[in-house]
Amino acid sequence: MSDPYFQQLFADRIGGAQYGKGTAIYKFEKIKRAKRQALADHPERRLLDFGIGENDALADTRVRQVMAEEINKPENRGYADNGVAEFKEAVARFMQREYGVALDPASEINHCIGSKTALSMLPAAFINSGDITLMTVPGYPVAGTHTAYYGGIVHKLPLLVENNFLPDLDGIAPDILDRAKLLVLCYPNSPTGATAPREFYEKVVQFAREHSLVVVQDAAHALLSFDRAPNSFLSVPGAQEVGVEVHSMSKGFDMIGWRMGWVCGHRQLVSAFADVKDNCDSGQFIAIQKAAAAALDDASIPRRIHAKYQRRMEKLVAMLTRCGFQCTMPGGTYFLYTPAPTGLEGGPRFENAEAASQYLIAEQSICTVPWDDAGAFLRFSVTYEAADEAAEDALMAEAEARLKNSNWK
Ligand SMILES: Cc1ncc(COP(=O)(O)O)c(C=O)c1O
Repeated sequence: MSDPYFQQLFADRIGGAQYGKGTAIYKFEKIKRAKRQALADHPERRLLDFGIGENDALADTRVRQVMAEEINKPENRGYADNGVAEFKEAVARFMQREYGVALDPASEINHCIGSKTALSMLPAAFINSGDITLMTVPGYPVAGTHTAYYGGIVHKLPLLVENNFLPDLDGIAPDILDRAKLLVLCYPNSPTGATAPREFYEKVVQFAREHSLVVVQDAAHALLSFDRAPNSFLSVPGAQEVGVEVHSMSKGFDMIGWRMGWVCGHRQLVSAFADVKDNCDSGQFIAIQKAAAAALDDASIPRRIHAKYQRRMEKLVAMLTRCGFQCTMPGGTYFLYTPAPTGLEGGPRFENAEAASQYLIAEQSICTVPWDDAGAFLRFSVTYEAADEAAEDALMAEAEARLKNSNWK
């Protein structure tokens, strides 16, 4: 079949005239295919899915009730533009209550349709061709993808176990720093599960000032912090002068599909984000904003979700340790990031995490996500579906029975 005339018109940023012709299969597609194959090959064996990165529960009952009421109100029907005051005011109360951060709701907070969209838009406010965004790897790539869309360059900062999964800021070459505009961080970190100590944030503030950088701290997992009280970059003196923090309702409030989050911090940075956003979307449905405001005002919701994922994580760490994996309790997030086994005693060798992950799906129907960006690691998520604690325990017992049969190296 011949190409449509527009094949030549695709922009270089998505592959140009070669768009859609590549044969490379991306990581998540490989996992999907391997899962389908495992189900076909072993219909008798339940697939134990530690690969999912989405909360397994519905949003809180009260939040759904508010939504049901708000959806019928005529005043909520129209374009929300850059957001309603009710949501911004609830964010300000939440930031004060949870992190001791004082923000002006009118000028220092702006909603977004999920934090992913905010991370995709922020580069538009800063990146000209040739500018650099400093980004930690492994990590959530969206700000980097959009940096490249604008002709910018992503400079990767590896997160290594020996640095507690914090970037080595002092190791960045001066010529890179000269061209860098954005420093994108993410704590609690996905996928490593590390949290950031206050001293690190203090150093980041000083570093940003010294090198004229804007800090974007991705706090999507902020409420899932286990080794320290949930903290905010903006609570560190000076942080509000150098950056913004991007928050999400997805993880800490079981509101993944609702698409709600916010950007907060320096008013001029928030304003630049709001200007870009205003040219991309017309705001989240007002009923969702009001339901999200109700969620933010109920401190018991994130506590309950935190307790559930902490309990599941403790069980997972104990089980994998008994099976010979090297793991310790992560600082936060619902992800456990553990060195990938290099092979099996007397069995196959795995050249990287992807090979180990494919083996686990094919041979044991256990799904994980491999990361090979900075060492070979497997990510186990505790967002699997299990109706109650007995179901969680049964799932752990099943995983243990399978994993214990192999001598992992
Ligand atoms: C680190 C990180 N940042 C941002 C997001 C985006 O979250 P949302 O768009 O649902 O707010 C995710 C979602 O997986 C994430 O893991």
